[in-house]
Amino acid sequence: MNDQAQILDGKALASEIREEVRGYVERAVRQGHRPPKLVAILVGNDGASETYVAAKAQDCAEVGFDSEVIRLSAHVSEQELLRVVRSLNENPGVDGFIVQLPLPAHIDEQKILFSIDPDKDVDGFHPVNVGKMCLGLSSFLPATPAGILEMLERTGVETEGKHVVVIGRSNIVGRPMSILLSRNARPGNATVTLCHSRSVHLRAHCQSADILVAALGRPGFVGRDLVKPGAVVIDVGITRVADASRKSGFRLSGDVDFEAVAPVASWITPVPGGVGPMTRAGLLTNTRRAHQMRFPNTDLE
Ligand code: GUN
Repeated sequence: MNDQAQILDGKALASEIREEVRGYVERAVRQGHRPPKLVAILVGNDGASETYVAAKAQDCAEVGFDSEVIRLSAHVSEQELLRVVRSLNENPGVDGFIVQLPLPAHIDEQKILFSIDPDKDVDGFHPVNVGKMCLGLSSFLPATPAGILEMLERTGVETEGKHVVVIGRSNIVGRPMSILLSRNARPGNATVTLCHSRSVHLRAHCQSADILVAALGRPGFVGRDLVKPGAVVIDVGITRVADASRKSGFRLSGDVDFEAVAPVASWITPVPGGVGPMTRAGLLTNTRRAHQMRFPNTDLE
């Protein structure tokens, strides 16, 4: 058993990735191209969505991307939102865009996501990109699972032949994570168990995991009893929990009880500073890729 797990430092790795992306932008501009441009559509004023979108805009500024936030009222019609999506699809000055989720209940989320040009779908949520991911073809990968893969690869955590247990089957994190880690690729080649709210023997599955990915959105769900000694523990949770001692009135809580699990794990992600920054880096990487698709001769140096 380890005394204390090593930290999978998403903050430091994301900063490394931003440096690389910034280098790409400098080369592209030197070669006479415009910088990459990312647009976010924000519907309504959900607090967490506001925070995410502001962070994404800040990342863009840091690496030299142009960015824009299109703010729409919470009462915007589906028709109007579709019109905005189509205009971005057709705008050659925009490399990629995202529609920040969740959307208000009166809007059909699927209909909106399906209307995004797959070549500009830097979230990787369009069925064309999901299908390509499943087939192992090159595509935009959803930012959180892609960020986790990048983190494992850059840290040198082996996935081949390992038993990975993913808790949570969301379209954004759990399901794509399970697919990506089971692909015949590096990182990948793992044996993956995808657990969810109806799983029987969830505890036993988790206890046999070499790599445990918690993506269910229940603060502190993974305690020491669910973790095999020496396991790698990835915490995707970022739930806002009321905390009167904070100016904001809340703190961010992961799905893993860090204090309890760190003494038995070999590697662990902190919250904040683990998966979150890697997700943001994943979006930058996808936007760079979208730009490169538009200007294929860039970055030959
Ligand atoms: N809401 C929570 N996570 C995400 C994300 O990765 N992309 C979008 N568009 N909305 C989100």
